[in-house]
This record gives sequence, structure tokens and C-alpha cells, in this order.
Amino acid sequence: MSETPANPVPQHVAIIMDGNGRWAKERRLPRLAGHNAGAKAVERTLKAAQKAGVKILTLYAFSTENWARPADEIDGLFKLLEQTLSRYTKEAEKYGIRLLVSGAKEPLPPSVLEKIEYAVTSTAAHSSFTLNLALNYGARQEIVHAVNALLREGKKEITMQDISQHLYQPDLPDPELIIRTSGEERLSNFLLWQAAYSEFYFSPVLWPDFDEAEFEKSIAAYRTRKRRFGGV
Ligand code: FPP
Repeated sequence: MSETPANPVPQHVAIIMDGNGRWAKERRLPRLAGHNAGAKAVERTLKAAQKAGVKILTLYAFSTENWARPADEIDGLFKLLEQTLSRYTKEAEKYGIRLLVSGAKEPLPPSVLEKIEYAVTSTAAHSSFTLNLALNYGARQEIVHAVNALLREGKKEITMQDISQHLYQPDLPDPELIIRTSGEERLSNFLLWQAAYSEFYFSPVLWPDFDEAEFEKSIAAYRTRKRRFGGV
């Protein structure tokens, strides 16, 4: 009997970066120290993804539900996100990376919106790699946003393709692989539409400890999966 050939390296990988708080708690550090360490894991993962031949990385950086966190954690997270965005914009300009940001604009602070606008426009022509940051993102909100856009266009009946074409990033293919770290196994309002046929990899590693070896493990696991898309 012939063996099933391995799936090619996924083009698009999406990650739910979970476990920053627990990582900090284990070290008796403030939660923000966990987010800072998480930002370093983002850099490692970006490099690992490029090395592996992945073309698009979507990272869940801040969900619409994260506003329920204490104000000082939100302030710190946004400072970190702004700093990271500014640094990544320079790097992206240098290395030909395209930056995308997916999510609702309201109620992001104007300084963050300006940085997003600049990051996205100044890297729009780049094509070697795409980093898509899900920021103030909620998948149900994204679907509602798409349907409202279609209603405004006067549509009376809509197709699946209509919805796909009105999501925040209509040009991105659906992720073949979704990784969630820290041992939690749920989607938490992430890419509900796009995940219809995604493979899932649940890593026990807390996000700040995520590294190239763990990323490679997830890709290797994906490559052995039998993808049937509802067929046999
Ligand atoms: C989940 O851990 C993580 C977040 C809500 C924030 C993700 C942000 C970063 C990794 C910081 C930098 C991001 C970028 C894109 C540069 P948690 O706080 O829910 O952890 P817990 O479940 O252990 O409490």
C-alpha cells in the first residue's frame, strides 16, 4: 500500500498566542512582563515561519473581548503594540514584508490608528511575506461587518463568495493551519469563517516560550494530516 504523500508546507498559518499571563505568574512577574516576553516570541516565530517557507502569518494580538482586562494591562499592551508596530514597519520596509492589520477601528486610540495606516500603506507593495496582525479583532464582528457592507451595496441575497470578499482581508487565502499555545483548545472568536477547513495544532507551550523548534513541530504535524475537505 502506498503511503499518503505529506501535505506541502502551509502557505498561511494563524496563531492564537496564549499563555503570557501564566508565564509571568509562574515567575511572580507582572502580566506585562509576560506580554513583553510574548513580543520576543513573535519575532522568533516570524523568522521561523519565513525559514519554513510559510508565506502568510496571522497573529491574534488583541481580541474585542480583551477590553475587559484591567486598564493598566490594556495600556501596557497598547504601548507594546505601538512600539512593535513602529519597529516592524521599519523592518518590513527593509525586508520586503507586507504588514496588514485586521480588526475594528473603533475604539482604537488615534495614535495606534495612525501607525496602522502608515504601516499598511508603506508596505502595501511588498510581496515576499505577509504579517497580518489581528488587533481589536473578533470573528463574529468581522462577519457582521461583511454582511453590513453587502447590505449597503443593496444586496438582497448573498453567497459565500460575497462574504469571503467582504472580510477584513479578502485577498488572503484561508489558513491551512491554526496553532493555539498554552494547552487551551478553543477558537475564542478567531477566524470563524476562514477556519472552516483549517487543521488545528494545540501546543502545550506557553506563548513566551514558543520557538522555532515548536513551530517546526506544528508544521510537521500539519504535514502528516489527511485533509479530506468533506470528501473521502
Ligand atoms: C494571551 O495571553 C495574549 C494576549 C492577550 C496578547 C498577545 C500579545 C502579545 C504576544 C504581545 C506582543 C504582540 C505583538 C503582535 C507584537 P494571556 O494574557 O491571555 O495569558 P493567560 O491566558 O496565561 O493569562
